Amino acid sequence: MTSTAGATERGRGATAVLTGLGAWLPPRRVPNSELCTRMDTSDQWIRERIGIAERRIAEPHVATGDMAVEAGARAMASAGTATVDALVLASNTPDRLCPATAPWVAHRLGLPAVPAFDVMAGCSGFVYGCTVADGLIAAGAARRVLVIGAETMTSLVNPDDRNTAPIFGDGAGAVVLEAGPPHAEGALGPVVWGSDGSLADAIAVPAGGARGRHRRDRAAPEEHFVHMRGNEVFRHAVRRMTAAAREAAARAGWELHEVDRLIAHQANGRITSVVADGLEIPAARVPSNIGEVGNTAAASVPLLLAHAADEGGLKPGHKVLVVAFGSGLAWAATTLVWPAGLAARR
Ligand code: COA
Repeated sequence: MTSTAGATERGRGATAVLTGLGAWLPPRRVPNSELCTRMDTSDQWIRERIGIAERRIAEPHVATGDMAVEAGARAMASAGTATVDALVLASNTPDRLCPATAPWVAHRLGLPAVPAFDVMAGCSGFVYGCTVADGLIAAGAARRVLVIGAETMTSLVNPDDRNTAPIFGDGAGAVVLEAGPPHAEGALGPVVWGSDGSLADAIAVPAGGARGRHRRDRAAPEEHFVHMRGNEVFRHAVRRMTAAAREAAARAGWELHEVDRLIAHQANGRITSVVADGLEIPAARVPSNIGEVGNTAAASVPLLLAHAADEGGLKPGHKVLVVAFGSGLAWAATTLVWPAGLAARR
């Protein structure tokens, strides 16, 4: 795989091919009405402005690693395998600041000694993780990779903040990617990805990292929660997702009218609608699960894939355009033709 300014050309190595898909959601549903008891908001506002009716919330003893294990096990069962050569965990909410969560997840999945590491790229982390896996496969460093997106967003969200609490939810999704020919169904297409660190503060947790260590003892409690400039993020999300999706389709050799399903990171229902409109992809081709699960950050894309495979009419042979955007800022888009015989495990 060779890379040029935010895009890849397919090299001569093998390609990552989707062979397994799994998802796990915590059972506890939190409807908008529950949030209305804690903050000045309304069910109607959250439905109309974000598109969410309820979200899933992990119980306090359940962390990102636990959900990653559940989704990872389901993805491996879906692929019919008990082994992988590497594990990539995409998350913004690792179990601890140090060490990475992935080795513990690998241990719990009975994958001793496999290379396992975390990727943090905001809500684009899962697509970044798949791109890294594709690179490992193309380089011959692995033939089968488990990529998991898992989030305990409620660990970063101030439960009383109406700017963030209505938006985010918890959950995990995972895929197995295996070496195969570039034109196989399920093969990942070229990626279009990028970042803009000049807007690092647009979605950020001020305390807890190395940059705040000199004032560790003075950090106010709210500095440990995520802060977001929602309006600004909205505008950049629309612009970057539309451009990246358009370019990924072009690099795959697809006309946009050929796209059967747009799998867009579930940030906000209005963002997805504006992006789909900009790409002129009809709403019937744009599956959505934000209404039931909220914005699950790096878990969003694999959760939506599993939802769409089961309920959204994602069919073998469909041309699928995938796009994500989030903190960093970071974005990524890619393509695949949906493979036959893939049963999502949820
Ligand atoms: N309930 C009720 N009213 C609310 C509210 C809430 N939860 N949050 C904000 N408001 C109010 C504001 O105070 C404002 O009132 P005013 O007009 O009287 O000043 C009004 O609603 C509009 O606020 P605004 O911030 O412009 O709302 P918005 O339509 O942009 O929606 C977000 C806010 C956060 C939902 C939206 O900007 C968003 O989704 N941004 C992207 C977030 C995202 O995707 N983040 C993750 C990256 S992937």
